[in-house]
Amino acid sequence: MSLRAQRSNLKVGAIIVAAGSGERIDNIDKIFVPLGGKPLLAWSVDTCQRCDLVQQIVITLNNNNFELGQNLVKERAWSKATICLGGLRRQDSVKEGLRKLKDCDWAIIHDGARPFLTLDLIQNGLKAAMETGAAIAAVPVKDTTKLADDAGLITETPQRDKLWTAQTPQIFRFGMITEAYKKVTNEVTDDATMVERLGYKVKLYLGAYNNIKVTTPEDLALAKIIAQNI
Ligand code: CTP
Ligand code: MG
Repeated sequence: MSLRAQRSNLKVGAIIVAAGSGERIDNIDKIFVPLGGKPLLAWSVDTCQRCDLVQQIVITLNNNNFELGQNLVKERAWSKATICLGGLRRQDSVKEGLRKLKDCDWAIIHDGARPFLTLDLIQNGLKAAMETGAAIAAVPVKDTTKLADDAGLITETPQRDKLWTAQTPQIFRFGMITEAYKKVTNEVTDDATMVERLGYKVKLYLGAYNNIKVTTPEDLALAKIIAQNI
């Protein structure tokens, strides 16, 4: 069945994780930094609010930005959104978000630090996830990438055309991702790793080079340029 045919039956929830502390960007609250006239977080949440494939949005925040988040939900009239406190690690925040989703078949997990989420990224991701139960946005690696040991000596040069940079959204059948979050407790840097560890197949679909994660000050400068050109 096509996504269009299923649209009315799909129960889809989005979790936007925004509870980090921004250590690599001098601990500024990158999530609330102004970007093209609105807080950085508002870009991705506006897209989910506008997307008719998504019925509910959970935003995870930390103790320092919780009140800012509460106010923003009201100001921007995000009728689908609820907020909750995240945890120490990204995956702890996602876990809290999963707990808040109600009656969902599909969970879309997205970094609040990635402002340039689009309707296409959501729609294409859901389509891809329906093939295997799990799909993540990714882009081909542009640079040759090296594996190195602790002394900085190269141990391997993986074939570049097999390498992808993982982004979000990452989209999962709800039962699969909740099972993974119950069973896997080691630190991971994305959600797909969890379900990979349980042996599930995860499909890559084409993300976008401008779907950047604002991680360092250089990324923020780039985000300002992208925002001007959208
Ligand atoms: N995140 C979260 N809860 C955490 C850690 C991260 O919700 N305990 C969120 C961040 O707010 C961000 C996303 O996960 O939207 C991706 O994380 P990252 O870019 O690493 O953000 P930070 O953890 O804030 O940055 P840093 O690692 O530099 O401290
Ligand atoms: Mg982090």
